[in-house]
Amino acid sequence: MDNATRLQYLEAMGIDVWLPRASANHEQAAAPDAIAGNTLPEQIDNWETLQAEVAPCTKCDLCKTRTQTVFGSGNKNADWMFIGEGPGQSEDQQGLPFVGKAGQLLTEMLRAIDLDREEVYIANIVKCRPPANRDPKPIEIETCKPYLLRQIALVKPKVIVVLGRVAAQALLNTDEPIGKLRGKIHALNGTPVVVVYHPAYLLRSLLDKPKAWADLELALQTVKNIKG
Ligand code: URA
Repeated sequence: MDNATRLQYLEAMGIDVWLPRASANHEQAAAPDAIAGNTLPEQIDNWETLQAEVAPCTKCDLCKTRTQTVFGSGNKNADWMFIGEGPGQSEDQQGLPFVGKAGQLLTEMLRAIDLDREEVYIANIVKCRPPANRDPKPIEIETCKPYLLRQIALVKPKVIVVLGRVAAQALLNTDEPIGKLRGKIHALNGTPVVVVYHPAYLLRSLLDKPKAWADLELALQTVKNIKG
C-alpha cells in the first residue's frame, strides 16, 4: 500500500493523521537517561547464550506453572520489535509468542502496515505464562525484564511497538495510564517506542481500533523518518 492510499484510508476512517518530522519526534522523546533501570547491557552477548539461559529459567515462581518458556520469534535483525505482556495458554503450549486469538489480530495489524510476522521480532515482558492469564507481578517483571533488554540490544530495532498497558508500563518504568502513554513517541536508550492498545483488548473494544491504527501509523512514520 503506498503512502497516499494509506493516508486516504486512515482519513476515511476518521483517524487523525500525524506526520511527525524527525526533529519533532526527538523533541517528544523522553531523554533515554530519564528512564531509570533500563540500561542496556554493554557486555558481548549472543542469541545462543541468551536462549540457553531463558529456556530452563527458575528465577521466579512463574516457572512452577508454565509448560515452557516463550522466548520470542521472528527476524533477529528486524527494524520493528513488538513487545507484549506475557504468554497466554496457546503460547505456553506452543512455545511461541502471539499465536492465539490476540496473535491473529496482531498478524492482521501487521498486515495493515505492510509487514509480515517473519519480518518483525516479537517478544514479551515475561517469558512464562502467568497462571489464569493474570497480570505479571512487579517482582516477576523485574526478574524477567533483563532478558528482554538483552533481546532488544541484540535486535537493535529502529522502533519498538509495545502492546498494552502492562507491557508499556513495565518497559517505560511508569504508572501512567495507557490513554496517556499512547499517541506519542517515547524512547528506550535512544530507540523510539510507540505504545499501542493490546490486540486482546482491541478484540473486546472495537471503538478503540482507530486509535490503534493511528498509533501504528505513528510507528510507521517514525521508521520512515529514521530511514531518511
Ligand atoms: N498476549 C501477550 O501479551 N503475549 C502473547 O504472547 C500472547 C498474548
